[in-house]
Amino acid sequence: MTSNDPLIVDCDTGIDDALALLYLLADPGIDLRAITTVFGNTSADTAAANTLRVLELAGRPDIPTAVGAASSLRGTARLAPHVHGDDGLGNTGLPTPAGAPVTEPAAELIVRLARENPGRLRLLAVGPLTNLATALRLDPELPELVSHVTIMGGAVNHPGNVTPWAEANVANDPEAARLVLRAGWDVTLVPLDVTMTELLTEEHRLRLLAATTPTSRFAANILAHYLDVYQRNVFGSPRAACHDPLAAAIAVGEVSPELAPIVPVDVDTSDGQERGRTVAGRPGRDGSGGPGVRVALRTEGTFPERLVQRLGGVPSRTIDIA
Ligand code: RIB
Ligand code: CA
Repeated sequence: MTSNDPLIVDCDTGIDDALALLYLLADPGIDLRAITTVFGNTSADTAAANTLRVLELAGRPDIPTAVGAASSLRGTARLAPHVHGDDGLGNTGLPTPAGAPVTEPAAELIVRLARENPGRLRLLAVGPLTNLATALRLDPELPELVSHVTIMGGAVNHPGNVTPWAEANVANDPEAARLVLRAGWDVTLVPLDVTMTELLTEEHRLRLLAATTPTSRFAANILAHYLDVYQRNVFGSPRAACHDPLAAAIAVGEVSPELAPIVPVDVDTSDGQERGRTVAGRPGRDGSGGPGVRVALRTEGTFPERLVQRLGGVPSRTIDIA
């Protein structure tokens, strides 16, 4: 099911966040109402500059970008230049954006748009959940106002990607993630269990590079860095996880998980080695099961093809990758 209800994307605009934004922007039927940024892959300010770069490249500088949390609820901020480059976009050297972020802070913007669109606003969170947690603190009625929340984060039956247990978005702010996952709103969690099975490849990159639009060539350029990082650190071959674009497609109803049980999800907020672990399907630490969260555990594995086509990549048979 797809819908044209307004959507806010909350992101830490690095490489896969940028691909997710380009995927959404390529469909004029999606009402991308605002983008809010958070620390994570890069600082919240750099994430905003990168968002503006992407919006300008895609010809949508009219979409407001608001800056959010510079650190977690505990005041920590571990960035990821080793994955996304010093600029968060694979050191691709895009020019300084012409525009600037709005002055309204991210969490306040989320609350305002939820109040202005009761029962209609959709949220897609693909970075640490600090902005959403802050918005919940500002307005405890948010869960009744927002129609749906899709979150890229967590690792359920899959190892973590920053520790053996924890995925980056949750690990960067476990307290915020716990608050958001237990707030009682309608949530779909898109964990590593599915994002690590939807893989972009060197062939996809070449097909994007062979296309003529500025957005597809930009996508190919940032993907080159991402494939290289994944080749060296994860897969040993040029394949990369499609984390945030997959969550975006699920958020707008263009991908439906084949397996997505509704179970309580808790987050380890201890200071032990499992800090940031998402624990699904067990009673919460306070003894209650906690509210159910839809957890995507299996998708078809064909989404990267859809992403490449949406971004204008040339058909497979026209590329010689020998
Ligand atoms: O663990 C993957 C997630 O962490 C993605 O959202 C990526 O962009 C980073 O934020
Ligand atoms: Ca992200």
